[in-house]
Amino acid sequence: MVYSDELVLATHNQGKVREIIPYLGAFFPRITCAADHDIADIAETEKTFQGNAQLKAEHVAKKTNRIALADDSGFCVRALNGFPGVYSARWAQSDIGERDFSLAMNKVYDKVKESDDHACYFISVLALAFPDDRETMFFEGRVGGYISWPPKGDKGFGYDPIFRPDGYDMTFAEMEPEDKQKISHRTQALNGLIAYLNNG
Ligand code: IMP
Repeated sequence: MVYSDELVLATHNQGKVREIIPYLGAFFPRITCAADHDIADIAETEKTFQGNAQLKAEHVAKKTNRIALADDSGFCVRALNGFPGVYSARWAQSDIGERDFSLAMNKVYDKVKESDDHACYFISVLALAFPDDRETMFFEGRVGGYISWPPKGDKGFGYDPIFRPDGYDMTFAEMEPEDKQKISHRTQALNGLIAYLNNG
C-alpha cells in the first residue's frame, strides 16, 4: 500500500539506509536520504533519543518539503543510570577524533566490572515528520540483555560484541545478521511504524 511518493531518510549513514529500505519500499516508491538533497548532518543537541530523532526528522522534512524519517539509537546500561545512552557514539570518539568502539566498550566495562548488575538494553526511536501541519509521530523499540566480557564476535558493529540479548548465549556480534535483525531494537521500532502506515 503506497503511503506517499517519497520518503527522505534523515541520515548520512548508508548502513541505516540499507537496513530501512527493505521494510519501507512498499509504502514509499522512492526512498532518498539527506545527502541526495544536499542537506548536511545536523548536530544531535538534545538529551533524549526522542528529542534528537525529532530534531533530525523535522529539519529534513522542512528543508525538502517531503515526509522524513530519522532514527536515534543507543546502548543504555542500568548500573550507569542509562549511560552511554544518547552519548553512545561519542563514547567511541578517540583523542585523534576517530571512532573506536573497542575504546567505548572498555570504558563501559571499566565502570561496571565492580557491580553485580550487568543489565543493559539497546533502544531505537524513529521520528516520522511531515512537511504540513501533521504532528511528528514516534516509534520505539528496545531489546534487553546483559554485558558480556570479553567482547566476542565480528559480525556486528558498535557495542554488539559485548551485548548478550536475553534468552541467547551469544553476543549480537556472534549472531548472523538476519537473526539479530529478527529481535533488534530497530526492527521493533520499524514494526511500530509499519503498523501505523498500514492504518494510515
Ligand atoms: P546514532 O543513532 O547514529 O546517534 O548512533 C547510535 C550509536 O548507538 C551507534 O554509534 C552505536 O554506537 C550504538 N548502537 C545503536 N544501535 C546499535 C546496534 O544495533 N548495535 C551496536 N551498537 C548500536
